[in-house]
Amino acid sequence: MSSQIDHLLDEDRRFAPDPAFAANAVAKPELYERAKADREGFWAEQSRELLDWSTPFTQVLDWSNPPFAKWFADGALNVAYNCLDRHVEAGHGDRVALYFEGEPGDSRAVTYAELTDEVKRLANVLTEMGVGEGDRVALYLPMIPEAVASMLAVARIGAVHSVVFGGFSADSLRSRIDDAGAKLVITADGGWRKGKVSPLKPAVDQALEDRGGLGPQATVEKVLVVRRGDNEVDWIEGRDVWYHDVVPQASAEHEAQAFPAESPLFILYTSGTTGKPKGILHTSGGYLTQAAFTHRNVFDLHPENDVYWCTADIGWITGHSYVVYGPLANGATQVLYEGTPEFPEPGRWWDVIEKYKVTIFYTAPTAIRGFMKQGRQIPQARDLSSLRLLGSVGEPINPEAWMWYREVIGAGKTPVVDTWWQTETGAIMVSALPGITETKPGSAQVPLPGIAVDVVDEKGEPVGQGGGGLLVITEPWPSMLRGIWGDPDRFVETYWKMFQDKGYYFAGDGARLDEDGDIWLLGRVDDVMNVSGHRLSTAEIESALVAHDATAEAAVVGASDETTGQAVVAFVILKESFLREHSAEGLANDLRAWVGAQIGPIARPRDVYIVGELPKTRSGKIMRRLLRDVAEGREVGDTTTLADTAVMSVISAQVR
Ligand code: WTA
Repeated sequence: MSSQIDHLLDEDRRFAPDPAFAANAVAKPELYERAKADREGFWAEQSRELLDWSTPFTQVLDWSNPPFAKWFADGALNVAYNCLDRHVEAGHGDRVALYFEGEPGDSRAVTYAELTDEVKRLANVLTEMGVGEGDRVALYLPMIPEAVASMLAVARIGAVHSVVFGGFSADSLRSRIDDAGAKLVITADGGWRKGKVSPLKPAVDQALEDRGGLGPQATVEKVLVVRRGDNEVDWIEGRDVWYHDVVPQASAEHEAQAFPAESPLFILYTSGTTGKPKGILHTSGGYLTQAAFTHRNVFDLHPENDVYWCTADIGWITGHSYVVYGPLANGATQVLYEGTPEFPEPGRWWDVIEKYKVTIFYTAPTAIRGFMKQGRQIPQARDLSSLRLLGSVGEPINPEAWMWYREVIGAGKTPVVDTWWQTETGAIMVSALPGITETKPGSAQVPLPGIAVDVVDEKGEPVGQGGGGLLVITEPWPSMLRGIWGDPDRFVETYWKMFQDKGYYFAGDGARLDEDGDIWLLGRVDDVMNVSGHRLSTAEIESALVAHDATAEAAVVGASDETTGQAVVAFVILKESFLREHSAEGLANDLRAWVGAQIGPIARPRDVYIVGELPKTRSGKIMRRLLRDVAEGREVGDTTTLADTAVMSVISAQVR
């Protein structure tokens, strides 16, 4: 079977950088030249410039045992020192690190000096509790300053954190605690979500329940509990400790010790489409280098003036790299918001932007399409004029959603950067650089300086400009995953086996190169459809559907079909403004014809279902596998990783 993916959708809108923006931009075109001339030398320079090394490194990349990379291996640094103390020492102690906005409306500004102080106390507490270098600590927390402090305190003492998203169940938490062999859990009584306290501690209690001497009982010694929701909790004497009983009392004297660059920094579990979650392992020096470099250059960070806001939860990689490590290493001021976009009303995020005069905003296409569904009158009722840069991550952003983002949120003038990367890559790999790149709606565009990617066929041969195929990373990069926790074979098998002889990393995404060499992400390869021998991407057909005035969001899947092998089946959410003025009757036919006209008859959906919701993971990615089950009339498969498990029964009923 060919891995070529046919390309059908054309997009010719272009936005050249504004000269005034370019004149002040952090990223300069020389970055590309420098990296091209000497890739490793470039990363070494960036690392020395962006970070403070206690022991300077002399080695850059060690790739003698691929795919197990080492970066800056003979250097030593302390990650938390780089994110905190050095800014205070440089005289920026009074700069706000976090503008915390709680969902109920409580707020608190935490300066670099205060955050450093908190992390030092907490580091002393953790040491006191017996946590040391290399020990694993599980974090199960809401989006509160203590969560950021916990990650940094664990890093400060050379231990390894494993953050588990607060929306995961006790079972998921248990399997992650078990797999990592965590010694300590840091949690909270609960966190605010949609006007209620969503409990966390009970799930920890359940995850740690005795199972006949097996499992986490054996490893978890203590549970440190932050009070946030003020709700009742069960208490196990000797195991459970209130954060407020120990941290404020602890000494704020704590000298950060340096650890080797390849010391593990964190494990983050990612579920993938099937099988048991993979514990993606990241280490210290290379990871922090690329997180800081990308945060500074892709977001054009001017730390003395900007107010940055990334809406990701710390339970995801985006929260690790672009809420905690990148921004704090760069001394940024940022917003940390606890709750959901729609509480107490749909405009809450825009209120936050107005309140803190946010200048740089980074979110996901799923959120943007959700706002498109509600209508532009909601953001337009707020003052968003402080914004000067917008970013997107997590899924392909359809050109129409990109345009809406730029026009409605960015007043038609802010650059929009679509950033492609993965939990495994640790930091952004493909993106426009603001002030340099002429942007194109819907395209992630170009590899960053120092990053080498290509689009290849199944033999690893480049498809060339105009071709579609598989996205690969052809050279090691500083923030690359160092393995899967406890499972080196699975690491090799999952990412490196496919192009073993070339030594390429296979990302699992389909992509195409346009005539200018810009990269367009086409969706996960597992989701590609084969219609009458043509391989069609989910992203392109979904983008065509979203380009119709009535559509807010769409998901397409290939369902088996007697004549064409697979047929395109579309699930579509309509905009509220459209529904106010029209009925959905007859729209399915219009949409089929629309897709046929936009990208050709081959892509015309066989069926179009108008639905109220789409099945999404907790990080907002559409789970097409479940829609395929519905489209093929099968019983719907495992829904446990869905954000809302009820969605599939509603959709099944609508389709029937
Ligand atoms: C998808 C999130 C298109 C892709 C940082 C990737 C994207 C997976 C983009 C990783 C983008 C992420 N355009 N697709 N800009 N960004 N993806 O591990 O399929 O949660 O492989 O990391 O999200 O998701 P993860």
